Amino acid sequence: MTAPDFSRDLKIAPSILSADFARLGEEVRAVEEAGCDWIHVDVMDGHFVPNLTIGPVVVRAIRPQVGTVLDVHLMIAPADPYLRAFADAGADIITVHAEASPHLDRSLAAIRDLGCRAGVSLTPSTPPEALDYVLDRCDLVLVMTVNPGFGGQSFLRAQLPKISRLRNAIGDRPIWLQVDGGVTTATAPLCRQAGADTLVAGSAIFKGGADEYAANIAALRASCA
Ligand code: DX5
Ligand code: ZN
Repeated sequence: MTAPDFSRDLKIAPSILSADFARLGEEVRAVEEAGCDWIHVDVMDGHFVPNLTIGPVVVRAIRPQVGTVLDVHLMIAPADPYLRAFADAGADIITVHAEASPHLDRSLAAIRDLGCRAGVSLTPSTPPEALDYVLDRCDLVLVMTVNPGFGGQSFLRAQLPKISRLRNAIGDRPIWLQVDGGVTTATAPLCRQAGADTLVAGSAIFKGGADEYAANIAALRASCA
């Protein structure tokens, strides 16, 4: 990753879970040409979440197509046995769930030891205080605004105070505050006002096909202006 941008500038990260998996390389190129900032990859194991998606081999396959930032969201438990495989596959950021293991501090340190930026994600029921003793191990905090496992779900507004509390807890640390799930032009400004700097969106960006990606990304940015 080139010098990371830890400014609070808005970053848009399309979730490829909503992309056309039969043309994943083309889709990644198309959405980057459409002006996204990061590529968000949702890894699911059918155990931690009730869905099964992709593994390191797909991350390795799309890496050459990603010119921005490869942001890998691990919805898997345990995650530690697979961290090296995702780092070797080319992940810039690896995010694990606080709920995936009792040893979050160790997982975050292991991600950094592999040369990646370390992220932690909270499911809707996990309070922000879960991060009180590991914030200095983090480069990214991800607030899930849906129950993880699927794209196209409705935004959980009850998570907005959590975003604000984490923004306060982060203070001036170089930590991205990312929101993921149900982000649309209606909910993106709420996330931004609550303090988020990085927005993940799947269905809101990939809807309508590749000809619409630039307009969809621009609409998300405009909604937060
Ligand atoms: C859900 C994933 C999200 C999801 C976002 O478990 O982590 O990244 O793909 O999709 P939308 O934006 O459609 O809610
Ligand atoms: Zn995600």
